[in-house]
Amino acid sequence: MAKMNSFSKAPPALIALFVQGIAFVLAAGSCWLAIQFDFYFPSLAVLLVLQAVFAYFLSIALQMAHWWRYIHLLFPLAIWAALALQIPTSYFLVGFLLTGALFWSVFLTQVPFYPSKPEVWVAVSGLLPGKKLRILEIGSGLGNFAIRMAQLRPESYVEGIEIAPLPWLVSLIQAKFIAPSVRFRLGNYEKVNFAHYDLIFAYLSPAAMPELWKKALSEMAGESLLISHEFPIPGVHETQKKTFHSDQRQCFIYQIGQYQAV
Ligand SMILES: C[S@@+](CC[C@H](N)C(=O)[O-])C[C@H]1O[C@@H](n2cnc3c(N)ncnc32)[C@H](O)[C@@H]1O
Repeated sequence: MAKMNSFSKAPPALIALFVQGIAFVLAAGSCWLAIQFDFYFPSLAVLLVLQAVFAYFLSIALQMAHWWRYIHLLFPLAIWAALALQIPTSYFLVGFLLTGALFWSVFLTQVPFYPSKPEVWVAVSGLLPGKKLRILEIGSGLGNFAIRMAQLRPESYVEGIEIAPLPWLVSLIQAKFIAPSVRFRLGNYEKVNFAHYDLIFAYLSPAAMPELWKKALSEMAGESLLISHEFPIPGVHETQKKTFHSDQRQCFIYQIGQYQAV
């Protein structure tokens, strides 16, 4: 039981790899049996269709989120289509390197890159107290939020941390030309001590919120703010909520002192 629990806590992308591996073994085994019993000589297409079907049902058995079923079903078929179209392998290498540099360890963090909008950056600045602040954007992407914040709040110290190399590089170049006072670091925000900041701005994903909340509660000072764009902390009522005209997504604002035990 404990083993099953630790398996279900594994990152979904690793479970998906496991599912495709097992599905391949089952599909290859079925084809081998068909040949041994002179029943049928399967083609590559049959092997891949079998793999897709096995992977589909395995993902249901392992209770993966429902969209994984369709990814598992389509993945071997996409391989078959790519082989049939004889696409040069160098295209895949370039695609792999580009997506790797952009999304990096998303298979572990479950937080992909997608940018927030300018209206959000301005609104967040308007929510802050009018004094010198230490601001950290965690998962700073291309750096637009931090750069805008430095322009709107020139008295404050603004920093961004990003785990994926390509967006980090873009943010570094942008800062050099637009806002040299902003510091962008390449790294994991989980290793940063939040105690050094008055505002943590996050635009992450639902998967990251529970751990982020534990970290914020244990490290942040009572008067400091955690602002999460789009994704609320599950089960915690926000101090304040901000809605936007250009965007259905909201900002959830948490004044940390309200949630810390006295
Ligand atoms: C949804 S994007 C938001 C980008 C940017 N904050 C914005 O508002 O446009 C989330 C970003 O967080 C980064 N990220 C995810 N997990 C991270 C981690 N543990 N440490 C640092 N960055 C992380 C991702 O690489 C991605 O660029």
